[in-house]
Formats: sequence, structure tokens, C-alpha cells
Amino acid sequence: NSLKKAFKDKFYIGTAMSLPQINGTDVKSDQIIASQFSSIVAENCMKSMFLQPQEGKFFFDDADRFVAFGEKNKMFIIGHTLIWHSQLPKWFFVDKDGKDVSAEVLKQRMKNHITTVVSRYKGRVKGWDVVNEAIMEDGTYRKSKFYEILGEEFIPLAFQYAQEADPNAELYYNDYNEWYPEKVKTVINIVKKMKSRGIRVDGVGMQTHVGLDTPKLAEYEKAITDYASAGVKVNITEMDISALPSPWGTSANVSDTVKYQAKMNPYTKGLPENIEKEWENRYLDFFRLFIKHEDKIRRVTLWGVTDKQSWKNDFPVKGRTDYPLLFDRNFKAKPVVEKIIQLTKEK
Ligand code: G3I
Repeated sequence: NSLKKAFKDKFYIGTAMSLPQINGTDVKSDQIIASQFSSIVAENCMKSMFLQPQEGKFFFDDADRFVAFGEKNKMFIIGHTLIWHSQLPKWFFVDKDGKDVSAEVLKQRMKNHITTVVSRYKGRVKGWDVVNEAIMEDGTYRKSKFYEILGEEFIPLAFQYAQEADPNAELYYNDYNEWYPEKVKTVINIVKKMKSRGIRVDGVGMQTHVGLDTPKLAEYEKAITDYASAGVKVNITEMDISALPSPWGTSANVSDTVKYQAKMNPYTKGLPENIEKEWENRYLDFFRLFIKHEDKIRRVTLWGVTDKQSWKNDFPVKGRTDYPLLFDRNFKAKPVVEKIIQLTKEK
């Protein structure tokens, strides 16, 4: 019994792969990945900072190993991410004097990066997160360097370059807090505009870094159906469910360090049973929703394999211990895995 077998006729079920997993120093996780998942995405090694740390100096060793792992295990391989304001090397947008480059130069650099990376894995990487996290919760554009220098046009340009480099790869726009209504609206507008100009976009990525309380399932479901009605597939791209209280309480904007440090790890002796139950039910609620909308969903990807390795442990403060994933710190499947599998058998 495995997740990939259970979801075979529904959608791909995937995980992100960390550097140790790609480089064979976390073999136990690799075994879980090969036996449980039908899709993989690189957690870090395909970001621009790693692929092109200096202009024109590409480093592909980790990414090559990642793709080879996926091919060996016959997986649906996803590249993450071509254009993102974070983990972006500074050379990308400055000239020799440290000043912002012109629009023409930035376009050229984007094109070169995208073309080099996408063509290297042409026909092998089946889908790309072309642009990541460009829209804010209130629906405005993030004031990234891409936006400041190129304006809104940087998004269609990125898709166009990717499409030219591999016409058969699926192309996605990916974001977090992806259920905020104003953000949904803007993303849908971007999708529609690109389509009307003949620029292909195949899917929207809903990252799904969620907590026990937010978002409400109904608002999240509305985002799924809204995106789907814009004529794209929905990808659940980076799912994890934090078992801890939100460090920000109910507001997404409080940057009060003291406040969240106090809440850093309320469960030093492991999760209390009632919270564990709540966490499990939350996963089951989400998966019921995914199954309900299986016709709209291309892929559900978890952002990691075990709690031990999750980025959530050190977020937003180092040393915070979280329990967001399907496998525990001893590489054991949590009871929720079997329950998720059972959901696929219900009518
Ligand atoms: O590899 C370097 C190493 O050479 C260096 O010595 C060390 C010192 O800090 O850093 C290492 O890089 C770290 C990298 O992960 C690889 O382990 C970075 O510091 C660390 O910040 C980075 O964190 C990643 C984060 O993106 C960066 O923003 C997380 O692992 C990764 O899970 C997270 O993933 C993002 C998605 O790409 C986009 N959506 C949100 C998601 C969670 O933040």
C-alpha cells in the first residue's frame, strides 16, 4: 500500500527533495520517496542562486542528480523555480557599478537563465514553476526588482521564454497565501491576459503552507474552483500543515519578534494528543477536498518527507520544532498516511 498507488487514477502525489536527499546522504528518505511518491520537485537546487551563482557560470550537478533520481523512479519531475525575487543572486539585476540594470539587460539575463535551464532538461522536467510569489495578499504586485525594472510585463516574458525553450513542458504560476481573494483575482487576471495573448500557462500552484486554523476550508476551496474556472489546472505545490499556533496570531503582518518567540515551541515534550488529532483531521479535510476536485487538480506535492527535515522547524525563528509532514522524525509513516489512502477508496 502506498500513496502513489492509491492516487494513481486521481493526480500525481509528490514531495520536495532536499539537498541531502538529492546527494544520497539521507537514504532513508530516498527510500520513502521512491516507494510513496509519483512526483518530485527540487526544494532548493534549481533556484537561480544555486544554478547561476555568477553570471554565465552555471552549476548543474545537484539538479542533474535530482532529475536522474526522478527518471530512475519514473516520476513526474517538476522544476522550481525560474523567476523568484528570493534566493536570487544579486548580479542578476545590477551592473558593474552596483546600479539597477536597464529593462533590456534584465530581459536578456532572464532569457538567458530561463533558456539555459529549461533547454538542459527539455522533455525530462515535465513542469516548471515559471514565476514564484509575485503578487501580494492585497492583489498588488510585489515590488521586486523584476517588477521595478520591467513592470508587470516580466511575468508574460518569463512564460514566453520558457515556452520557447521547451514547448511541451507545463508552465505554472506559483504562490503562497494563494487563497486571499484579492490575490486570486489578480492571478486570474494575469492568467487570462497571457492566454488572450497566446502565451501558454497550464497551471496555478497553490503552495498550501497552512496551519490548523487558517485558511478556512471554504475560502481555500473557493480559490481552487476560481483558479480552475480560469481554464488552468490547479497544482497543490508545497503542502505542509503546521501543528503549532501561528506565530503571528491571526494577522499575517505582525513582525513582533517577541510575540512569536514566546510561542516558539509550546510543545517541548511532543505534540499533545488532542493537537495531534486536530492536525490529522486537518490533513484529512484537505485531502477530501482534493479528491472532491480531482478533475481540477494535476498534482498534490508535500514540501518534504519527514518532520526532521522540514523548513518549518526553523521558521520564523531558529530552533522552533514543528510537526508538519506525513512522516515522523524516525522515518515512520504517521497514522494519517493510511487514513489518506483509505479516503481514495471511499465512494
Ligand atoms: O546551501 C546553503 C549553504 O551553502 C549555506 O552555508 C547555508 C547557510 O545559511 O545556507 C544554505 O542555504 C539554505 C537553503 O535553504 C538550502 O539548505 C538557506 O540558508 C535557506 O534559507 C534555504 O531555505 C529555503 C527557503 O525556501 C529559502 O527561501 C528552504 O529550505 C525551502 O524549503 C524554502 O522553500 C520555499 C519555496 O522555495 C517557495 N515557497 C515558500 C517555501 C518555504 O519558505
